[in-house]
Amino acid sequence: MKQMLATAVLLSATVGGLIAAQAPVPPAPPVRGGVSSFPAQQREPDDPVLVARGGDLYGIECRGCHGPDLRGGEMGGPNLLRSSLVLNDQSGELLLPVIHGSRKDQGMPAIGISAEDVKAVAAFIHSVAAKAPGQGAPPPGPPVTLNVLVGDPKAGEAYFSAKCGTCHSITGDLSGIGTRNPGPVQLQNLWVAGGRGGGRGASLERRPPPMTTRREITVTVTQPGGKKTEGRLERIDDFLVALTLADGTPRSFRRDGEIPYVEVHDPLEAHRNLLAVYSDKDIHDVTAYLASVK
Ligand code: HEC
Ligand code: HEC
Repeated sequence: MKQMLATAVLLSATVGGLIAAQAPVPPAPPVRGGVSSFPAQQREPDDPVLVARGGDLYGIECRGCHGPDLRGGEMGGPNLLRSSLVLNDQSGELLLPVIHGSRKDQGMPAIGISAEDVKAVAAFIHSVAAKAPGQGAPPPGPPVTLNVLVGDPKAGEAYFSAKCGTCHSITGDLSGIGTRNPGPVQLQNLWVAGGRGGGRGASLERRPPPMTTRREITVTVTQPGGKKTEGRLERIDDFLVALTLADGTPRSFRRDGEIPYVEVHDPLEAHRNLLAVYSDKDIHDVTAYLASVK
């Protein structure tokens, strides 16, 4: 994985270089009445609630690789503001296969978020792209910085007992959580996301000891005759679902709309649903608390 990431960094650096050399970044598109005239940016603004949810999801699932401002990140994801795929996307339909694993071999991991979540992430990405002055130009204002250790650990402890204690314990599965991460940003990303899926930069961080509930996304495929096949989800897009049976046999099914019927089970779903519940203060408090758990 490290090597793949390194290759991806090299690749995107080379591709970026080529683009820069052959096709200079176009000047900022003329703006009329606040609406960009760049064709792909002439869109109705999305529902702000959807955009906000997409922003949260982006922060968890994409930011490490594509950067806080979409211009590429530490872990090797390319600049999404220059991506023609993003520019041609309307509401996530082109992002979906990529997010669900079609570029796995190029270093973009499969991320098991639902089609609805992909729409939200797309709305967020488009909202940032629409505000970008010109593709690849530096972001307006000061660079995005993040100081996450600003919370109150006592309040965080109380919040943890109330909201997290049903599933976790700091003397059990989360013991030593404050020392297991290279820094507070990583710690916060880890707990808000509920861990890192395999391949999502896992090699860049020390993996926590295995938990009995180690995340495994499973899938049930029900064929028209009623025959069910269950296993670990390997890959899913609009056309294909691939899984591994309990005995290790790989299986895959072509998809055509609702046939066969596919149900994805993600043990993290309950954890992720909490996203809607946290306030910024809760997040800062819990991070400050977890950072103090040595
Ligand atoms: C582990 C790092 C990583 C994570 C996490 C990640 N990506 Fe990527 N992404 C990449 C890499 C590397 C590529 C380049 C793949 C290629 O060369 O085709 C890429 C490519 C893409 C592309 C295609 C860009 C283009 O123009 O070809 C899109 C769109 C994209 N990612 C969106 C996302 C979104 C949205 C998320 C979060 C839901 C995400 N990525 C999470 C690493 C990552
Ligand atoms: C309904 C149960 C549930 C609740 C409530 C919940 N989580 Fe989780 N959490 C999970 C599951 C399931 C995982 C995935 C475990 C895995 O991947 O091994 C997880 C993963 C995590 C991880 C990553 C653990 C690791 O070692 O990779 C952290 C940290 C975490 N949760 C913190 C929290 C905090 C903090 C709260 C409260 C704000 C919370 N969780 C609330 C179910 C829950």
